[in-house]
Amino acid sequence: MDKRPESLKRITTKKAAEKFINSQIKEIQEQVGDKKVLLALSGGVDSSVVAALLIKAIGRQLVCVHVNHGLLRKGEPEQVIEVFEKNLGADLRYVDASNKFLKELKGVDDPETKRKIIGKVFIDVFAKEAKKIKGVEFLAQGTIYPDILESKGVKAHHNVGGLPKELNFELVEPVKYLYKDEVRVVGEALGLPKDMVYRQPFPGPGLGVRCVGAITKDRLNALREADAIVREEIGKLKEKPWQYFCVIPDLKSTGIKDGKRYMGWPVVIRAIMTVDAVTAKAVEIPFDMLCRIRDRVVKIPGVNRVLWDYTDKPVSTIEWE
Ligand code: XMP
Repeated sequence: MDKRPESLKRITTKKAAEKFINSQIKEIQEQVGDKKVLLALSGGVDSSVVAALLIKAIGRQLVCVHVNHGLLRKGEPEQVIEVFEKNLGADLRYVDASNKFLKELKGVDDPETKRKIIGKVFIDVFAKEAKKIKGVEFLAQGTIYPDILESKGVKAHHNVGGLPKELNFELVEPVKYLYKDEVRVVGEALGLPKDMVYRQPFPGPGLGVRCVGAITKDRLNALREADAIVREEIGKLKEKPWQYFCVIPDLKSTGIKDGKRYMGWPVVIRAIMTVDAVTAKAVEIPFDMLCRIRDRVVKIPGVNRVLWDYTDKPVSTIEWE
């Protein structure tokens, strides 16, 4: 196994992060020379920190590809463009593949099949984009030390079924010996926005596994709106839960509007605390906060009921799928 060097001390301060950044800049420059490096930039903590580090080291020799699979949270693609293209001057290729993903996922209700399709289409779209870029010899990845410890070595959700031949470049993995908390300290030292560096974990298949069952555009859009409200409201808690989000199950119940009955979806709120996601405890949400969320969420077209999932793991998993 690729072991963390003993000389690498835990990074907990800005000063230590700056030292790490400077040494990595040198290493990256030596490794890649004047060649181009490709990176799938999801906007998650790890790939964002790798992008910022590489931009510092090699500027526009780094080509970032941001694939919008249509399952991202509200405002995410916009933030990636704002931070990396506008603020950091990155060479960013934005690919809106949301319709392709929706088409491939149409009618598919099995969670693992959904994950496989999302992973495969992601690789296809990324590889197609990579082919358009000349002079690439390296592939950067946001692999972190726990990924190596779990003996995956590469990000599973970007790599379902292994990387295809056309992406078989030499790897650049500047944060592969760091733990998540160290990656965040480095991200802050690199000047990334706090809400990007300290964001909650978000599954690779994104809202796809929270739009339970076969995904439809209207239910997915309702979920994205509800998710933004839930994140904003629960994010106000002094002690933020480890993960807080919502889910829309594939079922309808009766609602009433202007004296008329109609069928609508429920939104399920979930907030949990955990250390390692192996077990988790539901977090208490104050009732006035629940009421505020309810009043905002029921205004979303198609939604007519709000539920709170306060089950621990076990017996429930954190996600619904
Ligand atoms: P469960 O639902 O198994 O989730 O209790 C444990 C943790 O893993 C996350 N999760 C995923 N992350 N791809 C990911 O990158 C996935 O397919 C996936 N499924 C679940 C989940 O959000 C939780 O933090």
